[in-house]
Amino acid sequence: MAKQKTELHTAGYKAWLEYPYIQSSTTRDLYASWCYNISISEQGHPVIESAVQELTRGIQGMLDIDATITESQEKDMQACIAIGTFNSNHPLITHTFSEAVRSSVGPEGYAIRTNTEKNCIAIGASTPVGLLYGVFAFLRVLGTGQSIEALDVVDNPVNTLRMMNQWDNIDGSIERGYAGKSIFYSDNEITENFDRVQDYARMLASIGINAIAINNVNVHRFETMFITERYLPAIAKIADIFRSYGVKLFLSINYASPIEIGGLNTADPLDPDVRQWWKAKAANIYKLIPDFGGFLVKADSENRPGPFTYDRDHAEGSNMLAEALLPYGGIVIWRCFVYNCKQDWRDRSTDRARAAYDHFKPLDGRFMDNVILQVKNGPMDFQVREGVSPLFGAMEHTNMMIEFQITQEYTGQQRHVCYLVPQWKEVLDFDTHAAGTGSSVKRVVDGSMYGYKYSGFAAVSNIGNDHNWTGHLLAQANLYGYGRLAWNPELSAEQIAKEWIMLTFSSEDEKVMDTIHEILLTSWNIYEAYTSPLGVGWMVNPDHHYGPNVDGYEYSKWGTYHFADLQGIGVDRTMKTGTGYVGQYQGPNVDLYESVATCPDELLLFFHHVPYTHILHSGQTVIQHIYDTHFEGVEQADQLKVKWQSLEGKMDNSRHEQVADRLHEQALHAREWRDIINTYFYRKSGIPDQRQRTIY
Ligand code: GCU
Repeated sequence: MAKQKTELHTAGYKAWLEYPYIQSSTTRDLYASWCYNISISEQGHPVIESAVQELTRGIQGMLDIDATITESQEKDMQACIAIGTFNSNHPLITHTFSEAVRSSVGPEGYAIRTNTEKNCIAIGASTPVGLLYGVFAFLRVLGTGQSIEALDVVDNPVNTLRMMNQWDNIDGSIERGYAGKSIFYSDNEITENFDRVQDYARMLASIGINAIAINNVNVHRFETMFITERYLPAIAKIADIFRSYGVKLFLSINYASPIEIGGLNTADPLDPDVRQWWKAKAANIYKLIPDFGGFLVKADSENRPGPFTYDRDHAEGSNMLAEALLPYGGIVIWRCFVYNCKQDWRDRSTDRARAAYDHFKPLDGRFMDNVILQVKNGPMDFQVREGVSPLFGAMEHTNMMIEFQITQEYTGQQRHVCYLVPQWKEVLDFDTHAAGTGSSVKRVVDGSMYGYKYSGFAAVSNIGNDHNWTGHLLAQANLYGYGRLAWNPELSAEQIAKEWIMLTFSSEDEKVMDTIHEILLTSWNIYEAYTSPLGVGWMVNPDHHYGPNVDGYEYSKWGTYHFADLQGIGVDRTMKTGTGYVGQYQGPNVDLYESVATCPDELLLFFHHVPYTHILHSGQTVIQHIYDTHFEGVEQADQLKVKWQSLEGKMDNSRHEQVADRLHEQALHAREWRDIINTYFYRKSGIPDQRQRTIY
């Protein structure tokens, strides 16, 4: 009997694990015929328990069936979902998966097959975590309304490290967090209420995340002590929770720990006492957390301590830590966000965009095998648009992973909708030409191009203790999309959006699916339209980075300038007349960006300083482009509101209202951007809008 369950939805907390009840009785019956029984043979493994629990929960939600869990028996020929690792001797698993299939499933992969002969749908894997991913994949199949009559799937993650970076502090605040306080900490203590941590672990596992650093890369006083007896037991409990969902725990560490908590007077990586101190620390950590992932390190970056203090370079600095972790299989994730943050704005020769490459490229080949460099997607800092970091492809002999920012620091702070998957796709598809044509960033970071030992994805999380996790409900799509892309960068932004919508809302309402899909897929370009133009970036208020302030960083020490004057705007990063940054790229990319004639419009001001009257490839002048996009951006933001409004009554009021409120705020705020940017450039240039719209 069809049941109306939608009113029970709890306002976004369950995110894409909502498991909305399937309204179509035809679909439901088809699914149900397989789902009354779950057959397992391995009991007691925490990850398999997580998998079975999730399967039960999903079947309950979508089909309203309390599945019976049975031990595997050959005689048990009732239709069932059979779950087992390949060496579990589960007869249905053994029967279903051939040797060829088994050997094509990697350590975290899975296989799903409908076995009509044995009347089961079998989910098999080499490891418990593979099973967990298999279960989530199967639930995704149901949640997206696909047929399960002839499933035959083998899937392995493309990237080995798929990591989340929490920028949470022990006082409960989150650096660049826009969705409330930390779920891990409050009032200078590690939480003892693990419910949300557990649900977060579930969410992460459901999208294939397998690693997490649970504290901010800026490691302050108390967090420096996370690697001591004082905090380690509590951290070990968090590690236990994540472990049961296949997620490894990492900690961000303070490079000056030997001084701050070790009683030494130096943190020099070549000092024998310092080296010994870190080794002893590692031994302690692994006693409590035997599968501890390792350290995430922000060193010599934005006033954080690092090896430079001792005239050591970053290879020496990171290798010292790597050596300490090596006996336990731990790794050092070393961030490349290293630049001069005390720049004199009068100095035109220093270019922040150059910094990471200039610092790290000369060190290629000098890092230990268990060090990975973590490189932000762009050379600046997670702007709405910037070039791709030229470090990708530039370091053949050094493990590398990419860092994205899911939290929307510069992309609307989760008050504006900005679906970032299309941006990330562009970065991943970017051809570095480092090893000839086809050397895309995704091939660098999946390790296949240079045969890295460790590689993958990291991203700054966007969750907090807001009821719906991400503040803006639609920002959940970014978290979801990040995980899916880390698993398989070939998935399209459209496909990921579709999945997320179906799992979160419904796979049965075309209008809901199409409308939200359109909102998501247009949102990045809309945000870009009314904010900083043509790749130049910034123009935000200092410190908190929200809202327009064209000269907010223009005369500051942070190295983030646009150089607008009465004639023109943009940063000359060419080799011929500019900072030479363009020369860090490889192959045809150098010529592409060096010449104004070939540089793509959307990055023109990132690479070139041009007059306002410069004509873009679009045929429009720069100044008219600025006016047009800013007026259009606001109109489009208004349209987002109208589109969302049309979904009223098609979902629970709570979720509808949450998003409606944010879109309302976005539309108002877009006007602020439009008027400030347009007025600024009109006053600078004196060139009127061809269409004579209101500029102040
Ligand atoms: C940005 C951000 C900081 C952060 C830094 C980093 O600059 O504003 O809050 O600490 O990136 O990535 O380390």
